Amino acid sequence: MKPVAVLVLCVLSCQTDGVNITDPDRNSSAVIRRVDRRFLSVTIDASLASEEKFMYLLSSPKVRTLAKALSPAFLRFGGTRQDFMVFSPQRHQQESGSTADQSCDKVELPWWLEERLKKEWTQQQLILMREDLQRKYSRVKFTEYTVDLLHSFTNCSGMDLIFGLNALLRTADNSWNSSNARSLLQYCESRRYRMSWELGNEPNSFEKKAGIRVDGYQLGQDFTRLREMMSESKFYHDAGLFGPDIGQPRDRRTDILEGFLRSGAEAVDACTWHHYYVNGRDTSLEDFLDPEILDTLASKTKEVLEKVKLVSPGKTVWLGETSSAYGGGAAGLSDTFAAGFMWLDKLGLAAVLGLRVVMRQVFIGSGSYHLVDENLDPLPDYWLSVLYKRLVGPEVLKIEGFSSVARSKRVRLYLHCTNRNSYSGGAVTLISMNLSKKPARISVPAPVSSSTVEAFVLQSDQPGKEGLYSRSVKLNGEVLKMVDDKTLPDFKGSRLPPAERLQLPAYSLAFFVLTDARAAACI
Ligand SMILES: *[C@@H]1O[C@H](CO)[C@@H](O)[C@H](O)[C@H]1NC(C)=O
Ligand SMILES: *[C@@H]1O[C@H](CO)[C@@H](O)[C@H](O)[C@H]1NC(C)=O
Ligand SMILES: *[C@@H]1O[C@H](CO)[C@@H](O)[C@H](O)[C@H]1NC(C)=O
Repeated sequence: MKPVAVLVLCVLSCQTDGVNITDPDRNSSAVIRRVDRRFLSVTIDASLASEEKFMYLLSSPKVRTLAKALSPAFLRFGGTRQDFMVFSPQRHQQESGSTADQSCDKVELPWWLEERLKKEWTQQQLILMREDLQRKYSRVKFTEYTVDLLHSFTNCSGMDLIFGLNALLRTADNSWNSSNARSLLQYCESRRYRMSWELGNEPNSFEKKAGIRVDGYQLGQDFTRLREMMSESKFYHDAGLFGPDIGQPRDRRTDILEGFLRSGAEAVDACTWHHYYVNGRDTSLEDFLDPEILDTLASKTKEVLEKVKLVSPGKTVWLGETSSAYGGGAAGLSDTFAAGFMWLDKLGLAAVLGLRVVMRQVFIGSGSYHLVDENLDPLPDYWLSVLYKRLVGPEVLKIEGFSSVARSKRVRLYLHCTNRNSYSGGAVTLISMNLSKKPARISVPAPVSSSTVEAFVLQSDQPGKEGLYSRSVKLNGEVLKMVDDKTLPDFKGSRLPPAERLQLPAYSLAFFVLTDARAAACI
């Protein structure tokens, strides 16, 4: 028998200054949750298609390189503007377009066009922001190109496309008018685009956005209608359908969820909701580092999970769209090193609580919460996401003593099996972040402290609190940047000698891979 590695991590405030090994028979290294292999997923906001030409940014070789490193993942295309988008095909069925047939290497956005689109997108963002502030959305027509470009982008980067359909096309009796969706599905089927579907974005605010009120029960019936339509299709009869993409619990939003589940739970493969910690127009660095604010995710999640359990027990729940701050993010925070604490804590906590997939708003485009900026360069949260993908596996392990150190909320820890594609079985990855100025330490118990540790410590490239506003990040002391448009840097861990303590610099994010922990659950 291999020794069971029971990892007991103890932060100073749990007082037992030392090692706490729990009884291996009550094996606490057992898997408490298992997330989807695409757990960390991303979105593209439908506003990128507000003018179809911007979709060509997805053919940039650099963007594709960055996307590939995040697979496997879902790519959800949706958001407020999905409910104002109407499919308006331009081609005849016979004259099949060319984009999809091209091999992935051949699709390349010429550099001069890329430069022009980047400039124009900056202008476009101002128009979009004005629309958002006035809540006046104009109808957007999109053609086959939007779908072709999305499909080619996801297919070539190894992601799975989820397309959000317009739920605000209603009939006189306020049920969903499916005719536009039908023609889109027919087109996608003719191209054999493997993809899944959603219907409507944040239906709880349809009234504010469009003056149309749709209750949960009706929405569930609309989903049932869509599912029927999919069942009739040879190509989409077992494709995924996810929804209702409601906003986080507040006032009557959970009522929408309850009504939806009563009539529509059967139609969906996962129940989706959205979460943001703060309002982007009214927040601060302190909020981004505040453990109390990070903990609000837990209470909102529990509220949603309880409702789901009540009405449709066993239904998978996803965060269908989520980021630090709503309203497009908080400029100067959501796009800086500071955002990493909310992002990494969300990934850690969501997995522990039982959410199966977390889709980050956004991969590219819209607002300041993007992973890839307006110059198509990766931001700190991008690098954090890539490391997470490489180092963290789907099995969530229990950290003993974690709850007893509730008072030291500024050092936050999560434990997973290591991604087996990167390390051999039995390894565990400790995810940790230090939001603190106060001393604390992580003690590692004996069987594990003899393990080799590979540390991946992310810090701002600038020292001190000011550094939190930086848009560059260092991994083990070296600034992360692309080697060229087609090459990411090597992500080298630094080998720590066996020790019973792990050190975390102030304001740092880290992954510690305990390569020979031999955790039974991770073999
Ligand atoms: C990409 O398309 C090809 C051909 O249709 C298909 O075999 C492959 O599974 C697709 N990959 C993804 C990730 O969708
Ligand atoms: C649904 O929309 C289509 C296209 O706009 C329209 O032709 C059709 O009459 C509508 N159907 C209903 C029942 O409202
Ligand atoms: C977190 O950073 C502070 C400030 O540098 C340090 O005193 C503390 O020991 C660190 N915590 C851990 C767990 O390493």
